[in-house]
Amino acid sequence: YTERDSLYGLMNYAKDQFKDLLFNTDDGRGIGLSYFRERGFNDRTIEKFELGYTLDAWDHLSKKALGIGYTEDLLAKAGLIVKRDDGRFYDRFRGRVIFPVHNLSGKVIAFGARILTKDKDQPKYINSPETDIYHKSHVLYGMYQAKNAIRREDFCYIVEGYTDVISMHQAGIDNVVASSGTAFTEEQIKLIRRFTENVTVMFDGDAAGIKAALRGIDLVLKGGLNVRVVLLPDGDDPDSFSRKMGTTELKQYLKDHAKDFISFKIDLLAQESGHDPIRRAEAIREIVTSISHIPDPIKRSVYIQETSTLLKMQEDVLQTELNKITLTER
Ligand code: CTP
Ligand code: MN
Ligand code: MN
Ligand code: MN
Ligand code: MN
Repeated sequence: YTERDSLYGLMNYAKDQFKDLLFNTDDGRGIGLSYFRERGFNDRTIEKFELGYTLDAWDHLSKKALGIGYTEDLLAKAGLIVKRDDGRFYDRFRGRVIFPVHNLSGKVIAFGARILTKDKDQPKYINSPETDIYHKSHVLYGMYQAKNAIRREDFCYIVEGYTDVISMHQAGIDNVVASSGTAFTEEQIKLIRRFTENVTVMFDGDAAGIKAALRGIDLVLKGGLNVRVVLLPDGDDPDSFSRKMGTTELKQYLKDHAKDFISFKIDLLAQESGHDPIRRAEAIREIVTSISHIPDPIKRSVYIQETSTLLKMQEDVLQTELNKITLTER
C-alpha cells in the first residue's frame, strides 16, 4: 500500500464515522439530522451525498481512528486533526454537519463542515486543507454525483455552494456542480470539458449575485466553454429557489431564463450605461473584451454580429476594436 491508499482509507473511515454518528447518536439525530430535515433533505438525498455529523468533542474521531491503528501522522496528513504548538492536537471538525467531497471515482477526498449555531465569531464552513489527495483548485463539488447527467444532458449547471447542489438534485436536476464560493480555475474548466462544453451559471438576482456571475467568466470563455446565465429572483439562491418549486416548474423556469452570457452582458451594460455616450463606449469595449476571450473565431464573429444588432453599432467598428484588443493582449 502507498501512503495515498492509506489517506483514502482514513478519509473513508472518517466519512463512515460521520454517517454513523448522524443516524445513531442522540446528538446526531437531535441536532444534525433535524437540521438536514429542516432544510428539506430526505433520506435518499442524505445517502446520495453521504452527509454526516461530528460530535461537539475535542478528539472523538481521532481517538477512534488511533484506536484501530491509524497514526497521528496520517490523521494530520489527511487534515483531520489540527496540531498545536505544544504538540497536542484536536479534531478539525467538531459539532458540525458534514458534507464529504468525492473525487471522480467516488472516493472521499475532503470534507466541508457547516456550523449549526448563529455564532458569528466562527466561520459558516470549515473545509479540509490541501492534502496529497485533495487539491481544491482541481475539484468541483458534486461532480461525482453529476457526471453521468452532465454527459447525458450535454451541459452543466454551476452554482455556488454545497446546499445548492444538493437541493437541485432533490428537485430532480442532477447535472449541477458547485465552485464552492471561489473563482474558477483552469483545472476546473478542464474537468468540465471532459463531460461537456456547455455551462449555465446560476446566481441570485441581486447586485452581489450579478457581480459574482460576471467575475471569473472571462476565464471560462477563454477555456472555450459556451456560457449561459440564469439569474434567480432577488434574495434566492438555487437551494432556496428549487425548494419553492416543483420539478417541472423549476425546469421550465431555468429553460425560460437561461440567457447567453454575451447577450446577458450586453443587456446589463446597456441598462447600466443608459444614454451617456462615454459610459456606453466603455460598456461596448467591455463586451468586446469578453468576446476577445473566446478562442473560436467563428463564434467571435457571430457575437460581434449580435452585439452590432443589439447595440445598434456598426459591425466594422466593433471588429476594429476587437482586433485592437486581440493585438494588445498578445
Ligand atoms: N464557503 C466556505 N467557507 C465559508 C463560506 C462559504 O467554504 N466560510 C463556501 C461553501 O462551499 C459554501 C459556498 O462557499 O457552500 C457558498 O457560500 P454561502 O452562500 O455562504 O453558503 P451556502 O452554500 O448558501 O450555505 P447555506 O445555505 O447553508 O447558508
Ligand atoms: Mn445574494
Ligand atoms: Mn481580460
Ligand atoms: Mn449561498
Ligand atoms: Mn444557501
